[in-house]
Amino acid sequence: MFGKRGTGGPGITPPKGFGGGQKVEPKEPKPAPSPAPGPAAASKPAAQEPKKAAPPPKPKTPAKPESQAAPKLSAEAKEKLDEIKVNVFNDLMEAVDLAELSSLTPDQVREEITDMVSEIISMRGLVLSLQEQQTVIQDICNDILGFGPLEPLLARDDIADLMVNGPNTTYIEVSGKMELTDVKFRDQAQLMNICQRIVSAVGRRVDEASPICDARLADGSRVNVIAPPLAIDGTALTIRKFKKDKLTLQNLLQFGSITAELKAVLEVISAIRLNCLISGGTGSGKTTLLNCMTGHIDSAERIITCEDSAELQLQQPHVVRLETRPPNLEGKGEITMRDLVKNCLRMRPERIIVGEVRGPEAFDLLQAMNTGHDGSMGTVHANNPREAISRVENMIMMGGYNLPSKAMREQISGAVNIIVQAARLRDGSRKITHLTEVIGMEGDVVTLQDLCVYEIEGEDANGKLTGRHKFSGLRPSFWDKARYYGLEEKLANALKFGGGL
Ligand SMILES: Nc1ncnc2c1ncn2[C@@H]1O[C@H](COP(=O)(O)OP(=O)(O)OP(=O)(O)O)[C@@H](O)[C@H]1O
Ligand SMILES: [Mg+2]
Repeated sequence: MFGKRGTGGPGITPPKGFGGGQKVEPKEPKPAPSPAPGPAAASKPAAQEPKKAAPPPKPKTPAKPESQAAPKLSAEAKEKLDEIKVNVFNDLMEAVDLAELSSLTPDQVREEITDMVSEIISMRGLVLSLQEQQTVIQDICNDILGFGPLEPLLARDDIADLMVNGPNTTYIEVSGKMELTDVKFRDQAQLMNICQRIVSAVGRRVDEASPICDARLADGSRVNVIAPPLAIDGTALTIRKFKKDKLTLQNLLQFGSITAELKAVLEVISAIRLNCLISGGTGSGKTTLLNCMTGHIDSAERIITCEDSAELQLQQPHVVRLETRPPNLEGKGEITMRDLVKNCLRMRPERIIVGEVRGPEAFDLLQAMNTGHDGSMGTVHANNPREAISRVENMIMMGGYNLPSKAMREQISGAVNIIVQAARLRDGSRKITHLTEVIGMEGDVVTLQDLCVYEIEGEDANGKLTGRHKFSGLRPSFWDKARYYGLEEKLANALKFGGGL
């Protein structure tokens, strides 16, 4: 048992490995004194001397949070429990010696906290059912060791996006649809503290002085935080959660996002080193598809990835991962995507993968594609392949290059071979809607040719859209390249059975 021996106070270094150097939640302002029942409530918090308490029966806490599995409490019971949690948490913060906890493993810390919370509950004379007691312990452990009320949501694997709009409102996206949850934070301070904990794990910080921050969780999930005063109703935290098991093209096939034939064509495209842009709207599945396609790159190739927040999880052995850096407090030290892509060129890359092309780095990526780094890939925000071309054009203009439109388009048409369009349809399903080839220029216009298009046919009784992937029957211009790589037959079969050729 680790009762407090030193004076820790707020901001003590927390146990190592529980979020990498973040600060444990400082002691919060005490809530209005709660009329806790029982004789112990009248005296100063029992937690000051928790050792003297007779230990109550020790409830077993699971090592991992599983509170989502617990039966739902009524609103009144939940409110009462929340109040108890705040009081017990405050007592615990007074009693615990965080410095000593830092020498323990997470499981040992959980055990210590479980002991101390049980004693505090007993000293305060609180009458709680076993389930309520477990909930209190679980939530306090989550608060100290993890991401507080977000833990149960983070443990779920069916959530695509987690959106916290201030301390009282949290939405999730499940199966392509938004859902309001009953997750609430004690207050803005707790929410901010958790955000701080998340971003400090990747060496960043978020506060009033720098209220916007991008970060990622240990599993690669992308995180964005925007704090007051910019976020008017409290800190907004957005987490793009990835499935624990990385999605593959086979999974996309099972979800109905692609057909077996389209899967085979995408595999060929990745393997034969075509330069590829994956286009789509927000959350349409661009990064996921990029990840899936990189799975078919030869393991002998040297790949360099450039991202704002490292989300890609390439499985190849020879990968260098680069990440941009925001400016520091003095506004210095920023490393942009452009800096990374330019630097990449001096790193003898065989393929360059840009997580998201959104600015002037588009020009450098096209240069790379045009100068022997075949098989480079990137994603762009656009609603269809034609728009993807104009987006890239606009991005080059943003870089201040004074190129005539035609020269820019020639650069694009010479560099990009394929545009794959991803979309999230109105029923929440995600589909690959276009597989489009860039085949050259006609006058001032870049010529595109659809190899496969998803056509919506109607809606079934459950509101799900029905449709099919339709191949155009045109012979792709990369046929010879497929033959060169020995994949002509695979391509021919896919197109034949997909309804093309
Ligand atoms: N084909 C799919 N079927 C089902 N879920 C998918 C599919 N593709 C992606 N997802 C899920 O959808 C979510 C969004 O995917 P992803 O991050 O790839 O989108 P994005 O287009 O890159 O988004 P953003 O524009 O925000 O970068 C993820 O949680 C991912 O697991
Ligand atoms: Mg993305």
